[in-house]
Amino acid sequence: MVSMAEEAKKIKEDIVAWRRKLHQNPELSFEEVETSKFVQEKLTELGIEFQAPVAKTGVVGIIRGEKSGPTVALRADMDALPIQDEKDVPYASKVSGKAHLCGHDAHTSILLGAATLLSQNPPTHGNIKLLFQPAEEGLAGGMHMVEEGVLENPKVDAIAGLHVHPTADTGYVTVCPGVAMACADHFDLEIIGKGGHAAHPHMSIDSVTVTAQVISALQQVVSRTLDPLVPGVLTIGKIDGGYARNVIAPKVRLEGTVRLLDPELRKTVRDQMDQIISGVCNAFGATYHFDYQFGYPPVQNDNSLIPLLEETANKVLGENTLSVVKPSMGGEDFSYYAEKVPGIFFRLGIRNEEKNCVYPNHHPLFDIDEDALPYGSAMLAEFALNYIKKHTKESVLTNPLPK
Ligand code: NI
Repeated sequence: MVSMAEEAKKIKEDIVAWRRKLHQNPELSFEEVETSKFVQEKLTELGIEFQAPVAKTGVVGIIRGEKSGPTVALRADMDALPIQDEKDVPYASKVSGKAHLCGHDAHTSILLGAATLLSQNPPTHGNIKLLFQPAEEGLAGGMHMVEEGVLENPKVDAIAGLHVHPTADTGYVTVCPGVAMACADHFDLEIIGKGGHAAHPHMSIDSVTVTAQVISALQQVVSRTLDPLVPGVLTIGKIDGGYARNVIAPKVRLEGTVRLLDPELRKTVRDQMDQIISGVCNAFGATYHFDYQFGYPPVQNDNSLIPLLEETANKVLGENTLSVVKPSMGGEDFSYYAEKVPGIFFRLGIRNEEKNCVYPNHHPLFDIDEDALPYGSAMLAEFALNYIKKHTKESVLTNPLPK
């Protein structure tokens, strides 16, 4: 019996080299042209059949077993963020203002590592699909992949994905049963008053003071209208308005996000916000434009896949390496796959204090402990093979021979 963990260690140098190459050459959402080419080159070298482009820059590989059986998909995202890399390391981003600070370079390399392991140890039955998707960071690459049919032909029976995370040490994984991540909506708001001279407020409508009231009042949506036992967040992350200290601002623009674990509440929150904004603006004679957009749905893990994940972790990382964690109010477009087929999304520990890999995702100093890379590859490869083995046996048992 092949040990995936041992096999993965043998290709660690390759996976690290791929990750560093991608890390130095980050590409933003739907611009992953070179990253996509790189993935295609590696799949070609491995002799793995693939389809590209899918959803603009995505790549879908497929490893077919000799006999029919279930199909498992493994997913990685490939895009970087528009943030300046502030790490002082030889593999830091070479592109000013762009960097892989969410670890999607690691996800792509880990899936290429899994592809290597699976090409050496292909499934006897069924198929394994390798989904390299674009644009996770806000532009819903996962949704576009689903729309382009990556869950069909052959039909995917289950999907797994991981995210590198500094809340767990290298060598450990975590999972949240059920709803694991929030829906991530966003809104734009413009408050329109009437400009004028700072010394003559009675002749203007001050959009800054109206905005101050709107911001305070909006904070009561979560604290006063949602059930306290139901998680919700409303954050205004950007505010912009006015010209100078002696001018009354005619307009203020705000941008924010709403996170909820229960997607049923999205409309309620949106309507409540609109009612508050309208009421406050009316009271002071201001007007407004409010645009609320539904973003990623919540990530829903299929609990029936958790025992298999645990078994996989026990085998690859050792006993007691998987722990159960609370949901996160972060968003993830893995949700688009998990809405359609049973899915499992887990976190791969990459924290290592000695190597200074402690910063949160999206921080300018975010980095990963590269020792975790082969663990990720082995986890994904083992999970897929394990799923196929279990479900092939079951289908043989549950499909009696024709009489
Ligand atoms: Ni991410």
